[in-house]
Amino acid sequence: MNMIQTLSTARHGLLLGLTACGLFLSSLAQAQEAFTLKGHGGPVKGISTQTDGTILTASFDNSVGIWTDGTPQWLEGHEAAVNAVVPVANGQVVSAGDDYSVRLWSPQNSTVRELGRHNAKVIRLAAAPDGQSVASASWDRTVRIWPIDGAAPVLIEGHDNTVSDVAFSPDGTRLYTSSADGTIRVWDAQTGAFLKRLVEHGFGINTLLVAPDESWLAYGAVDGGTRLVSLPEGVEIGDFTADRRPILAMAHSDKTDRIAIGDAQGYIMMIDSSALRITDDFQATPAGPVWALAFSPDGQNIHAGGISDVVHSWPVGSLDGAEQMTGTTRAFMTDPDQMTNGERQFKRKCSICHTLEPDGKRRAGPSLYDLFGRAAGAIKDYPYSPTLATSDLIWTEETVDLLFDLGPDHYIPGSKMPMQRITGAQDRADLISFLQSATTPE
Ligand code: HEC
Repeated sequence: MNMIQTLSTARHGLLLGLTACGLFLSSLAQAQEAFTLKGHGGPVKGISTQTDGTILTASFDNSVGIWTDGTPQWLEGHEAAVNAVVPVANGQVVSAGDDYSVRLWSPQNSTVRELGRHNAKVIRLAAAPDGQSVASASWDRTVRIWPIDGAAPVLIEGHDNTVSDVAFSPDGTRLYTSSADGTIRVWDAQTGAFLKRLVEHGFGINTLLVAPDESWLAYGAVDGGTRLVSLPEGVEIGDFTADRRPILAMAHSDKTDRIAIGDAQGYIMMIDSSALRITDDFQATPAGPVWALAFSPDGQNIHAGGISDVVHSWPVGSLDGAEQMTGTTRAFMTDPDQMTNGERQFKRKCSICHTLEPDGKRRAGPSLYDLFGRAAGAIKDYPYSPTLATSDLIWTEETVDLLFDLGPDHYIPGSKMPMQRITGAQDRADLISFLQSATTPE
């Protein structure tokens, strides 16, 4: 059995359950045990590692976590889910997500600078090999390469649909991009000029990675297609397509020649990239998906993020029999038939961003505990938008009903609550009566 180390931290980084800090530190650098990282209040969408073993996590809870030891450092400021985070030069970090914004953080002195914005969600990032620039893939169909010194970005245009992933060549001169248009294209990273179409897959491509010696490229697609092609030719050299779709995440370790592939059904498949064979196929979570994967620097552990708020790390050598990402599965995964309609509305539409408890576990939105009769913007340490913070609204049956009848964007324009309406009057009434019973203090 693997020893499971569990680290729990509350919203302000207060350490609740750290057993052996020294052990944890060494396990990040040369991890050979299973462990979990707890603290995020939403699914984890992006993971990457620094060469010293530090783990960076990007979450639906709008924050980035930096895990060097038991107490994560939180980078707060994104106004929506964060999808990607990568390390760049001088210990700095770049993150991006659903608020279109690409941000450069200096965690040592807690500063942040916006490098710029896309016109739609940013899905993935890739750091240039020298750490001096970052490429961002966006739903606005473009890729932008942002120098971290703040110089103007290089714009890459040409894909016919959303861009899903991006990778630099090892020498930093070329950029590989994948898209929902079913192609992988190659570009000049200095000028943004189009060089060639490498792959025509037919179905949308979600993720790609380039070998450290640029001898092959691997990609995963919406139809489950999982292939390796030779570089620079683009000729297929391996097809590992299983009956699972879509493929969502990929990672590679040059130390062990392993490619890890995560899919929507919760599996992590391992491929030996020199022998071109499958070495493991591990169901990491029965409730899928696996959204994010990264190897530890020594290649001995695979870190995974998905629908759970908890990041799991498993030793690659003993995936069989490893503990699954269960138990931490989000509450909305529980059997919907057991719930009232109001509770079901809440679980599906609100619980990812709101708790009902007074302790305000980390989520993107404020706790709804004791909501009725409360003034808008009243939770003390929650970073509200200026609109909500200065609003005169009192939350009542009527105002909560209006909020979702009209939608937050119409009812309180300027709020950072996402656009969403609940069009059925009965659904709204059921939700409100559930909230009344679940949020009222005893
Ligand atoms: C994707 C995240 C997200 C989802 C889903 C979401 N909210 Fe929110 N909610 C927020 C954020 C962020 C705020 C704070 C808005 C601001 O500061 O402008 C908020 C604020 C609120 C407020 C005001 C609270 C206060 O203290 O003033 C209420 C009430 C609320 N949400 C109810 C709900 C309900 C009910 C649902 C489900 C139908 C829901 N929200 C779904 C993110 C979300």
